[in-house]
Amino acid sequence: MSPVALKGIGFYAPEKILTNADFEKIVDTTDEWITTRTGIKSRHIAHPTQATSDLALEASREALKQANIDPKDLELIVVGTSSSDMLFPSVACLLAEKLGAATPMAFDVAAGCSGFLYSLSVAEQFLKSGMYKNALVLGADIITRFADYSDRATSVLFGDGAGAFVLTNEEQGEEFILDLISGCDPYGTDKLLLPAGGSKLPASHDTVEQRLHFIEMNGKEVFRFAVKISETLIKELLERNHIEIEDIDWFAFHQANIRIIEGAADRLKLSKEKVMISLDEYGNTSSATVPMTIYEYWRKGRLKKGDLMVMIVFGAGLTYSIALVRWPL
Ligand code: UT7
Repeated sequence: MSPVALKGIGFYAPEKILTNADFEKIVDTTDEWITTRTGIKSRHIAHPTQATSDLALEASREALKQANIDPKDLELIVVGTSSSDMLFPSVACLLAEKLGAATPMAFDVAAGCSGFLYSLSVAEQFLKSGMYKNALVLGADIITRFADYSDRATSVLFGDGAGAFVLTNEEQGEEFILDLISGCDPYGTDKLLLPAGGSKLPASHDTVEQRLHFIEMNGKEVFRFAVKISETLIKELLERNHIEIEDIDWFAFHQANIRIIEGAADRLKLSKEKVMISLDEYGNTSSATVPMTIYEYWRKGRLKKGDLMVMIVFGAGLTYSIALVRWPL
């Protein structure tokens, strides 16, 4: 089996920025509440003419350019998303069209905010098996389209964006993913959901009137789950790879709330300098948080080739995933 290498990364955040001060004019909130309770200061919001595949396209072009791979040579496109342009076709197929790809296998992965790592895990298997050589993997979401701007408890949390990784299977390549664990707690399906618009509750006057096309979340329970699962997964990952926490150079957590990240970091006694943060600027961009955060640290020259990194996510499902990787760029 040939190694699966990371060859390029891409990022896109829409131009429009919504600050906490802007939110003070939308809902009954304050910059002080949002900052102290979540760590978020601003978020980027997609233009009304943009759909998720448009954000994905920008990030993909950059990643493919860096990898020096022609879209026509892509054999696999996997997009982690919870905000596809429409119920079908998938963002991956719409993206393949926009990129001018040939005939890749293309599909979306619905795992809430865990979508990117779930997608990475699926793509890795196709590359490892030798079935495909070049894959494009994304986390991309315009999750703000589904945020209820009359609900201060959820609307302030979210932003839009996309992050893309290009992976190849090549004899001389350096193995990127050293270990990966994913799962779901199926007893948490009612903790974070978008109730209507699917086969259970198709759109109707009633579903619109009852505001069922927006995200519903039990914030406190998701919070508790997130802190606990982060601690459990990191411990399991370290143990099964026979490494110490001090051996890890970077922790790329899902960017949902600074207090979740700090809660997990405190329990594990992580050094703050190793914990990557981007939610202050971008908020929770759903499945895009981890690739966007990593890109930002890479762009600023913070990551060194060979660094050991942990990526960890959780989301609707309740899903979760953790990966141990060696940074190659
Ligand atoms: O990607 C995964 C998706 N989601 C998450 O990870 C979210 C996880 N949960 C959280 O981040 C937190 O639970 C929230 C940020 C959503 C809420 O923070 P909290 O500390 O759990 O606040 P709370 O829900 O207990 O609310 C405390 C108070 C309430 O007022 P009362 O009832 O005590 O008078 C809320 O109405 O804060 C109020 N509140 C706000 N006040 C000002 C809630 N949202 C706001 C707001 N501005 N935006």
